[in-house]
Amino acid sequence: MDVSFPDGETVPALGLGTYRMGESSRSREQEIATLQLGLDSGVRVVDTAEMYGDGGAERVVGEALRGGRRDKAFIVTKVLPSNAGRRRLAAACERSLARLSIDRIDLYLLHWRGATPLAETVEAFEQLVQQGRIARWGVSNFDVDDMRELYQLAAGTRCAADQVYYSASRRGVEFDLLPLLRSQRVPLMAYCPFDEGRILSDRTLAAIGRKHGVGSAQVALAWLLAKPGVVAIPKAGTAEHLRENLAATSLKLDAEDFEQIDRHWPPPARKHGLAVV
Ligand SMILES: NC(=O)c1ccc[n+]([C@@H]2O[C@H](COP(=O)([O-])OP(=O)(O)OC[C@H]3O[C@@H](n4cnc5c(N)ncnc54)[C@H](OP(=O)(O)O)[C@@H]3O)[C@@H](O)[C@H]2O)c1
Repeated sequence: MDVSFPDGETVPALGLGTYRMGESSRSREQEIATLQLGLDSGVRVVDTAEMYGDGGAERVVGEALRGGRRDKAFIVTKVLPSNAGRRRLAAACERSLARLSIDRIDLYLLHWRGATPLAETVEAFEQLVQQGRIARWGVSNFDVDDMRELYQLAAGTRCAADQVYYSASRRGVEFDLLPLLRSQRVPLMAYCPFDEGRILSDRTLAAIGRKHGVGSAQVALAWLLAKPGVVAIPKAGTAEHLRENLAATSLKLDAEDFEQIDRHWPPPARKHGLAVV
């Protein structure tokens, strides 16, 4: 399943997360090799942030892009709210570009809402687009109220994505945020698709997995990948985990599986606050 951004750019719905990468030299080579395996297997979206490993994760991504992989990848990184002001945003972007060893970020997100006025951040993002340093921008951890405020701004409708917590066990976004984003044709990037690993020991997912001869991880991912307009960005630190996650793209859950998951974790019947890490 592919997902389209408002400007027509299309990416496969399964991407790669990088939280906790670039923190230790012992796992560095394995992290690089895992990301490279993902890119060589057809994954395009690599999600990182200046915050992860204090820039270390961006450096790992930069290493993984070597060997002609830049053109295959769709690089997403995030600016800290403390760097999202008029003066600081361009400098933060240059630092991320240098760590990633690329000359343009495909999607640059505001990591979460901070004290900087939204209008100022949006104006600075737009300047970076005009300067060719980023191809498009978006937000993260924005709930419906924040998105509505963004849409009040002239350039606010150029927001290309909202990255939020979304998994089979944390479905609050289905009540109002996902429908709003879909109405604007803006992809929802689902972070923590395994609920930070908690979902992997769930008995309902394990039972559905047994039926299909796969593990809980694939069921959790296949469930998300079946949602139109959703990009899932699980983090896999090993080739084994990555291969399992890639296999989820060919797993088709049936109506009975969806009903079983709905009984276990019902879709939201009222507004829930956004889940955050
Ligand atoms: N915008 C934001 O505020 C925000 C917040 C959180 C996360 N994110 C992004 O979303 C990505 C995903 O979230 P996350 O890393 O927090 O959580 P996650 O992807 O839900 O879970 C990651 C955990 O699942 C394990 N795992 C991966 N594949 C597995 C498999 N097939 N079988 C068993 N275990 C498996 C990983 O272990 P191994 O490492 O050992 O493979 C890791 O411990 C992050 O990496 C980051 O890029 C964004």
